Amino acid sequence: MKVKKTFICSSCGHQSPKWEGKCFSCGEWNSYNEEIVEKPTKTEKKKSLWSGSANKKNKINLIQDIQVNTSPRLKLSDQELNRTLGGGIMPGSITLIGGDPGIGKSTLLLQLALKSQYKVLYVSGEESQEQIKIRAQRIGIDNQNCHVLTETNLPKILQQSNKMLPDLVIIDSIQTMSSPLVDSTPGSISQVRECTADLQAFAKESQIPVFIIGHINKEGHIAGPKILEHIVDTVLQFEGDRNHLYRILRTKKNRFGSTDELGIYAMESYGLRQVENPSELMLSQSDENLSGSTVASTIEGLRPMMIETQALVSQAIYGTPQRSATGFDLRRLSMLLAVLEKRAGLFFGQNDVFLNIAGGLKVQDTAIDLAIISALISSLQNIPVDKSNCFAGEVGLTGEIRAVTRVDQRIEEAARLGFERIFLSKHNKISKKHGKSIEVVPLSKVEDLLDYLFSV
Ligand code: TYD
Ligand code: MG
Repeated sequence: MKVKKTFICSSCGHQSPKWEGKCFSCGEWNSYNEEIVEKPTKTEKKKSLWSGSANKKNKINLIQDIQVNTSPRLKLSDQELNRTLGGGIMPGSITLIGGDPGIGKSTLLLQLALKSQYKVLYVSGEESQEQIKIRAQRIGIDNQNCHVLTETNLPKILQQSNKMLPDLVIIDSIQTMSSPLVDSTPGSISQVRECTADLQAFAKESQIPVFIIGHINKEGHIAGPKILEHIVDTVLQFEGDRNHLYRILRTKKNRFGSTDELGIYAMESYGLRQVENPSELMLSQSDENLSGSTVASTIEGLRPMMIETQALVSQAIYGTPQRSATGFDLRRLSMLLAVLEKRAGLFFGQNDVFLNIAGGLKVQDTAIDLAIISALISSLQNIPVDKSNCFAGEVGLTGEIRAVTRVDQRIEEAARLGFERIFLSKHNKISKKHGKSIEVVPLSKVEDLLDYLFSV
């Protein structure tokens, strides 16, 4: 083994013999870390620990002659996860689950192992077997199929898996795994990269699917080089507010399905509960009409979801007014405030503005804009918006209300939950006939909303 020190970009994995301020390869600033890499000498290269696929002769095939492995996807009892993965787990696939610490990644995958009809090997490098057992007792053990291994040495894990031949392998945190071929510490870029590559080779050859848990860094990206996300077949992101009940499992990348789907869970004392009807839970329980609170008809993934937005606009006491948003992009909030000032003559300059999306969820659908500006105006003017109204529209820079996608689905969901009026862009084409129970109010610009709801 030749020992060599090198600098590796934590964003793209580019290597450089000296420290660089800016990565030449991906343009990231201050991303180089020093690591020890050991170059295997020629003889050592030959007997690398997992050399399965190297032994097989790869030959060139005509695309028509390639046999497709028709073994079906593994269907889980967890419908939300099935849906997120595009209809079950593909054999030989490798899936990365990322999320904040304590969000419930280990719980999600242990629960999968405890409730699945497949033979699962759960490998943990973070917790002891007793800790895992205690967690399993909280969730409830349903079958005889969950096998636990606490180990951090990857070649040993692969050897054990190869002996046991489970239907599914779960690696609880790639950051704790290490390969003896790389001399740097577990969690370092070269270790993470090496271990993932080995796991991928293992999955592809044995056709055993592998789930990997990955930590995320301060900025919310999966820690480790970006190439980690390139290597794996599917990247799932588990998000939500740790202090809230709800969690969303989003697909960021999926080679075997769409990235539109998402799973919704609630964290209970007995593990994660699947939430089939998210709308009913996101609405607040108060019956009163209060100013600053409105409901948006959003679509997350392919599912409609009614979400309550709350705004509080109050007189600023200190010099610089505060702007704060939970579950919504702060820059987008500033943009909406600027639109209201410029186009509707409403001034927020002397006010603190707080915005909150109920349920602790992060909403990515821009159709929530209209509900947010209504909540802002409602709080500013202290005029409540009736609880029977809901909103779906994007707000543009000129104050125009823009059309949103899947409008029929949104109206249907609103009608189902008993809303009597939905505010939309007038450019939205409504193809289906909706019952008389819901009135559709078309708007073309922000001023229309003011006339309709806030003129006294
Ligand atoms: P965990 O799966 O350990 O998170 P991660 O692996 O993403 O770091 O879950 C962490 C939290 O979930 C923990 O703070 C306790 C809570 N929890 C419950 O509320 N109910 C449960 O049944 C379990 C197992 C955990
Ligand atoms: Mg964990």
